[in-house]
Amino acid sequence: MRNYNETTITDAVLERVRNARTPRVRQISEALVRHLHSFVREVRPTQEEWEYGIDFLTRTGHTCDDNRQEFILLSDTLGVSMLLDAINHAMPRGATETTVLGPFFVQSAPERQNGDDISGGLEGDPLLVNGSVVTVDGLPVAGAIVDVWHSDNEGYYDVQQLDRIGHFAMRARFRTGADGSFHFWSIKPAPYPVPHDGPVGEMLAAQGRHPWRPALVHFKISAPGFEQLVTHVFLAGDRYLDSDVVFGVKDSLVRELILAPPRAQQNDALVNKGHYTLTYDFCLRRLTDTPLS
Ligand code: BEZ
Repeated sequence: MRNYNETTITDAVLERVRNARTPRVRQISEALVRHLHSFVREVRPTQEEWEYGIDFLTRTGHTCDDNRQEFILLSDTLGVSMLLDAINHAMPRGATETTVLGPFFVQSAPERQNGDDISGGLEGDPLLVNGSVVTVDGLPVAGAIVDVWHSDNEGYYDVQQLDRIGHFAMRARFRTGADGSFHFWSIKPAPYPVPHDGPVGEMLAAQGRHPWRPALVHFKISAPGFEQLVTHVFLAGDRYLDSDVVFGVKDSLVRELILAPPRAQQNDALVNKGHYTLTYDFCLRRLTDTPLS
């Protein structure tokens, strides 16, 4: 066959992928061709626009290195990561909802003891985080591994400003006790922009969007026999809750900070200053639980 035109070319390409190696490769290839072709039919890009698109994707690739993944950021800011999360993490009723992992997770955060201060000595409003890890039936999950990380009071993660902040500040790994609880001290995080000095930032500006995420604390929780939970707890009242650039906010993950006044007779210096408390009970899904569809 030859002489394809706007009406015949899509079927011709679909015919070409019919003998794909597996049914799944065929399904994915067919959907890709159908959706790409209908995008082009709808948008009718000029040659210059098509070249701009190719250049944008090329620069997105060139911006990636061991520390930066611009394609994942593109997926995040176009809502694809949260769509994928919704598809793959339908939770049984009661299980804590999930969000994106984000680029600031570090695999090798040090294990700390419950009650430790993980602020790295940074300035900020003292924050006590009290958490527990339970099953959907409310039973404690002892020995769960809880990775936590968050931004400082200026909206920076340690990995973004190692010289100023230092390694492993505002990040640590905890283990839940026999009652499923964990707690630690840190400082109150601030909202922060996603990296926007590359192609994704250029896209956000062109789309008239801001690059901000609301203030939050990240959690990654694992325990044998349970699905790993990747989530955040957002601080109630944050101005970006309704316009999170990566569409990650869910009502069930927003918590009010409780302000505790200074208590002069306490020995603990952090408590003497007065502090905020953030409390959240995380509910894990057993690998054998059936997801909601
Ligand atoms: C984060 O909150 O760590 C994050 C998530 C997605 C994109 C950029 C940052």
